[in-house]
Amino acid sequence: MIDYRRRTKSLLERIEADAFLVFNLEGTDSVSMYYLTGFTGEGALILSGSETLLLTDSRYTEQVKREAPRIASKQITGNYLDAVVSTISSKSIPRLAIGSSRISHYFVETLKKRVEAVIVSMKDPVGELRKVKNPEEIKRIRAAANLTQASLSKLIEGIKIGMTEREVALRLEFIMREKGAEKVAFDLIIAAGENSALPHYRPGDRKLGQGDLLLCDIGAKVDGYCSDMTRVFSIGEPPAKAKAIYDIVLQANRAGRDQVKAGATGIAVDGAARKVIADAGHGDHFGHGLGHGVGIEIHESPRLSPLSKDTLEAGMAVTIEPGIYLPGFGGVRIEDLVIVTEEGCDVLTSFPSDCLTQIG
Ligand code: GLY
Ligand code: MN
Ligand code: MN
Repeated sequence: MIDYRRRTKSLLERIEADAFLVFNLEGTDSVSMYYLTGFTGEGALILSGSETLLLTDSRYTEQVKREAPRIASKQITGNYLDAVVSTISSKSIPRLAIGSSRISHYFVETLKKRVEAVIVSMKDPVGELRKVKNPEEIKRIRAAANLTQASLSKLIEGIKIGMTEREVALRLEFIMREKGAEKVAFDLIIAAGENSALPHYRPGDRKLGQGDLLLCDIGAKVDGYCSDMTRVFSIGEPPAKAKAIYDIVLQANRAGRDQVKAGATGIAVDGAARKVIADAGHGDHFGHGLGHGVGIEIHESPRLSPLSKDTLEAGMAVTIEPGIYLPGFGGVRIEDLVIVTEEGCDVLTSFPSDCLTQIG
């Protein structure tokens, strides 16, 4: 059971304004809308100390009753901008806060011209609130991670030389959906051979061949929450170079995992893993950050990277995903999803990774 009133109260305590506006049209801020109400449709949400009002339209009249039965909602008939302007103007709201990273410039500029309230721009206060997960959220993330792992086990039983990356991705998505995933958490990354050197590769017609690395960066969405995990396999006997980079990335993954605990900085955790890769002479082959938060979104705060400003807190869900990418040859990334605790972390992705497993 999620306590939406508590979330609203925490948000209002964080903002230096009398009300907060969420605007979700064509998915512009479905994340804040869902987090603050449980509603998955389109509309505008106006939160103030005295009331919560959700403006939506006839497409969602029944849906809002099911998904957010405790939230007061009003069905609008005209356009959303006019409805938001007249609602704000009819209330005593001297200062109205918005999450500027989740609302269009056009919408804010128009609002500024048409309402008397001072618009207070904050980057993403709902995102800040979402960094630390409550037990219900952790349960959903764990369920998504378990479903992803079970799906991967089933997938690899049927992997054969000659299958294309796209076919493998499609099979995996089918297995995930059969097991109850709402959808995939992101476009599944299935990369064979030299394509595994592209960190955010999109599966194509490349066929799996003998000696190829097969990188599977995969995740499912369960009850609104994502999982994220990467495992790399070898199709038959791997070349020595593949085994060598696998072992370095594995050490880097464990070095990163070992640093995770409440109070550790995103820079320090990233640094511990990055040092292993740099010391092995592959510093130039690991360009991205070590990890990111996972929740309603696949990439969210906090960040673990050389540029991170975050400090970990118990209850955060983060990935640890070092990689080595060798253009023209292939790449290895070993990605785990962990929950930060006071003493360390709880690893949700128990799918084996301690050696380069041969399949196919
Ligand atoms: N699945 C994308 C990532 O690991 O960031
Ligand atoms: Mn990730
Ligand atoms: Mn991933």
